[in-house]
Amino acid sequence: MDDDRNNGKKKRSFALSAHGKMMRFGISADARLIEKFDGMIVEKSYANRSEAIRDLIRDQLVEFAWTKNSEDVIGTITLVYNHELKELTEKLTELEHKNHTNIISSVHVHLDDHSCLEVLIVRGKSPEIKDISYKLIGTRGVKHGKLTMTTSGAELY
Ligand code: NI
Repeated sequence: MDDDRNNGKKKRSFALSAHGKMMRFGISADARLIEKFDGMIVEKSYANRSEAIRDLIRDQLVEFAWTKNSEDVIGTITLVYNHELKELTEKLTELEHKNHTNIISSVHVHLDDHSCLEVLIVRGKSPEIKDISYKLIGTRGVKHGKLTMTTSGAELY
């Protein structure tokens, strides 16, 4: 956006935050939409509308970063499976070893006599991280799997 468009009029002023200047902008929307939104932000314990909107913007930026093949992204892959299926456990271990450069950490929890929960922390280019998650989650015998997409947060402020 071009901030010089106010030239000749009153200069826009910005308050400084720890990261840079704060910018104000107005949003017009149907009152019913805003009422719905306000109801949601109360339930979600947001301090105010601005913080809720900042989170929405950040969420969209993270999602957008994941569409860019060249960006470095972070994620977690959650897997729930039955460890009694020996072939499955071996296949998952093999996949994880094959992708050790992208899997930076993992936690394994024995949920009960049969089920295991595994959370892998993954980092890399989005296509390779997606591919790893598809292979793991798609492995026969995995009861539930989910890739959570996030980012290092370096550019989210
Ligand atoms: Ni286990």
